[in-house]
Order: sequence, then structure tokens, then C-alpha cells
Amino acid sequence: MTQTQFTKTFHEITPTPKSVLILLLEGKKDEEIAAEIGASAATVRKHIQNLCDRFKIPSQVAGIKKNRRQELIALAAQYLPDLVKDRAVALKQQRSPLTPLPSPVTPSAKAETSKQTQDWGGAPDASVFYGRTEELSQLKTWILDDSCRLVALLGMAGIGKTTLSVKLAQEIEGKFDCVIWRSLRNAPPVEKLLADLLQVLSRRSQPDKSGRVDELISQLMEHLRASRCLLVVDDFDRILKSGDFVGHYQEGYKAYGQLLKRVGEEPHQSCLLLSSLEKPREIALLEGETLPVRSLPLSGLGKAAREILKAKGLSGEDNWEILIKLYRGNPLALKMVASTIQELFGGSVADFLEMSLTGIVQDIIFLIGQQFNRLSPLEKDIMYWLAIEQEPITLIKLRTCLAVSELQLFTALKSLGERSLIEKGSGQFSLQPAVIEYVRNKFVKQICQEIDEFIKTQDLSALKLFKSHALVKLTDKDGVQEDQASPILISFKERLLTARDSGIQTNITEQLEQIIATLPDNSQRDVVYAKTYLENLLIELKGN
Ligand SMILES: Nc1ncnc2c1ncn2[C@@H]1O[C@H](COP(=O)(O)OP(=O)(O)OP(=O)(O)O)[C@@H](O)[C@H]1O
Ligand SMILES: [Mg+2]
Repeated sequence: MTQTQFTKTFHEITPTPKSVLILLLEGKKDEEIAAEIGASAATVRKHIQNLCDRFKIPSQVAGIKKNRRQELIALAAQYLPDLVKDRAVALKQQRSPLTPLPSPVTPSAKAETSKQTQDWGGAPDASVFYGRTEELSQLKTWILDDSCRLVALLGMAGIGKTTLSVKLAQEIEGKFDCVIWRSLRNAPPVEKLLADLLQVLSRRSQPDKSGRVDELISQLMEHLRASRCLLVVDDFDRILKSGDFVGHYQEGYKAYGQLLKRVGEEPHQSCLLLSSLEKPREIALLEGETLPVRSLPLSGLGKAAREILKAKGLSGEDNWEILIKLYRGNPLALKMVASTIQELFGGSVADFLEMSLTGIVQDIIFLIGQQFNRLSPLEKDIMYWLAIEQEPITLIKLRTCLAVSELQLFTALKSLGERSLIEKGSGQFSLQPAVIEYVRNKFVKQICQEIDEFIKTQDLSALKLFKSHALVKLTDKDGVQEDQASPILISFKERLLTARDSGIQTNITEQLEQIIATLPDNSQRDVVYAKTYLENLLIELKGN
């Protein structure tokens, strides 16, 4: 019998046999149960027999006679662990083909007899789960003790939001009358999601498609007030807009904001847990340490990430910490890189690190690319600067690079932080190593395109990034530092050399000299940038 079948059957039992079952699971004797329900011990035994029938407990398995009562207790130990007095003993005594492995539900969840509905709607498997004990405990406190109504799990792609949401929901489902898990990966209009939720909550066979959004939200609010529901909405970022500051909705999805606002503001006994790459506006507006709306930014798995490398069969444990740090404990990135190490380096982390300390595998490029393409122009600019710098950079220094107001810069940085693309520590901003690599490649590619365009059109306006960003690190005094070992410069040079060697561009040095000559002779910052790295580049190219 599956959890769903068990739960369904459990809820279908009428009150008296349900009380019998609960008392039985509490370890009471037949006579005690009889006294509590005001019936004879014989009636209690009859109820137990009927319960065994309802839960399809056979009297023998493979020719061996079974104690059906014990089998019933063992089954419940698995699916309703909180009701069983001594779950471990029950499981040990009666482990049989009928009693599969224990469920991941924590025994600490309180007795909850009115569980009605569970609909996991394609939630992924979270049975392989490492670490995150602090996050789980924090979320449980917020949801169960502080009765938070709206909670957001935030973090960069692959950090483990979905997995944590499933694990948490599994561990606390016993505290709710209803658990529904949904993903917005196909960006359903809010009406569709609401109709779907209402269909599950009201146990109708057909969704009601008639209502207006606000009416549908009102109906949902009624359910959230009347019973204790846990709604998990994954992939919330799919309906948020890219190319804008963080947290705004795509055209046609604004009503999701209305939903969050009402769930966060109106009193009810339920919780909506969402996961997202970015923080939706409503959460930012409504959240607070002592308020019923909160958000939890997820960082890497830390030491627990070792388990991922272990499971992938990697060797060279001494170097695992380096690898984990390099990918900031991102489980997806680590899984991907571990596969590469296994494939290309026979599982040796040391060999991988030696060969390509800064190399990143294709899949991670895709991963970060997805995030990067969503950014506003200013956010992209900041990313480029952080990638050029490589090291943490202060707000003051960043301001010298960008011709924008303090407020604009501040808003963009906040937005990037909420997208989990940049990290902030002691007043400085930085990028994850894999992100630096991605942004740097993107930058060089873009600049090469600009040069190509300029060569074709002789139009200076083709040089955009080229003039707005230094290819080399800045000194503290707003100038350009001579730094020929700059990785950007090196990869730029490599690209140009490849183009020259393959005959695509044979006269690169002349072209670059021509660009320098075309640049106006003044000390404007963009001209200084462009000239300085063109000159640096010429030195590099001539050296070859
Ligand atoms: N705590 C964990 N223990 C073991 N594996 C994990 C853990 N968290 C995540 N993973 C694994 O890492 C991968 C990425 O996790 P998940 O899909 O939950 O990330 P996500 O943050 O939801 O990503 P996205 O933003 O792309 O939706 C999955 O393969 C998942 O199984
Ligand atoms: Mg996810």
C-alpha cells in the first residue's frame, strides 16, 4: 500500500473505528480502548478486524500466518509515525513484505488526525538528501512555530531549492490537513494554478473555470482559513520578468503578485512556500524577522557536499574541499563537474584541478547563462566589472566604474544579490568563480563582435562594451592598471590570434592601430579604457 492509498483509506474511515485505530497506535490495550469509546472489548476487536480488511492486511504472506493487528500497527508506523507509540519497536517486530522501509517523515511531528489531501504534482524525488539541517530547522520554526503565511526559498540555479522544498514538505506534512506541491515551470496563468489548487482543495472532479482572478483568490483564501494547508509553489521565477530589476512579473502574470499579497497579508492558518531564483516584490515588501512573511536565501551545501562527490565515486579526498569551494557547494554544479571529472580524469579531483582550475564545464555555462540573460543592462555591466576585477570590490570602487547614480547602483546590486548572482561580504561584492568564468567569456565574445562590427562599418558607435569597460583591473584611483596578465586580455588575445591563424582576420594589428588612431585624443574615461587595452593588446599580439 502506498502513502497516498493509506492516507485516502485513513480519511475514509468513520469516527469510531478511526478512534480505535488511533488508540491502538497509542499502545492502548483492547480493554482501555473499549472504555474510551464506550463499547465492549469484543466490539473493539471487531473494529480492528474491519480496519485490517480496509487496509488490505492479509492474514498470511507466502504461506506464513501473520498477526494482522501487528501488521496494521507496522503499516501505520510507516505512514502515520506520529500516532504510533513505539514506532521503532513496531517496525522491528513486524518488518515483512507488507512493511517497506520507513518513510522520511520525522517522528517529532505532532499527532494529526484530520489529514485530508496530499497532491505532490510531479515533485522530484528528494530521497538522496545531504546536509541542510539548519535550513530545515529554520524553516520548520518559521512555518510551524511562528505560523508564517508566506515563505520564500531563494538561491541561484542548482543550489537545491526544489529538493529542499520537497524534503521539508515531506517532513512537516503531518502537521497539515492538506499538502499540495506545484511547479510553475510551464508558466501557467494564475487562473490555471488557482483552478487547479481549488479543484484539489474542494475535491471536485472538474476545475471551476468560471471565476475572475480575485474571486478565485478569495475562494483559495477561504480554504486557507478553514483548514491548515501547505502549498508549495516551485519555480516561481518562471513568471518573473527578465531584463528588468528583480522581482517584477512578466506581462500577463501580474495577478501572481495579488495572490502573494493576499496570502501574506490576510489572516489564515496555512502556509505558501515558494522557491525562486529571484525574490518576488511582494515578499520584499512584506517580509520581516517578526512578520509572517519571510525569505531564506540558500547558499551551498558546505561539508555535506562531500557526499555528492563520494556518491560519484571521485578519488583524491584531500582536494575535495578545494573543489567544493570552487563551486561554492552548489550541488548541481558539483554533480555536473563530478561527472566530468569521472569521465575525463578517471575520477581524480587532483588531476582535474591541475588541468583546469578555472575551467568550467559546458552545462554550468548553460546554467549561469540562463541567469545572465535575464539581467538588465546595468546589472550586466556590474557583472562585467566584477568579472574583470575577480576579487571582491567595494561599492565606492564600483561607483568609479559606472556612470550611474548611487541609487541606481544600489538598486542593481540589491537586485543581483536577490538573484543570487553576486555575493556580499564585509561591504564588498564578488562573483562565484564559475560565474566569473562565464561572464568573462561572454565579455570577450561581445568585444570581439564589436571590433568586427567596427572593422566592417568604421563606425565608432559599434564599440560599446569596449569603451565602457576596462579589459584590465582598475587601480584604486580610477585609472587603468597595467596588467598584462589580465585573464580577459589573455583570452581576448587568444581569440584574435585564433582568428588571425585561421585566416579570418589577417591584419588584426593594423586594424587595432587603426581603431586607436580613430579614437579622439582626450582624457575621457571611455577613451582611456579603450586606448589602454588596445595598446596592451597590441603589445601582446606583437609579442607573438
Ligand atoms: N541537499 C541535497 N542533497 C543532495 N543532492 C541535492 C541536494 N540539494 C540539491 N541536490 C541535487 O542538486 C540538483 C539541483 O537541485 P535542485 O533542482 O533542488 O536545485 P534548484 O535550486 O531547485 O535549481 P533551479 O533553480 O534550476 O530550479 C539536483 O540534482 C538535486 O538532486
Ligand atoms: Mg528548482
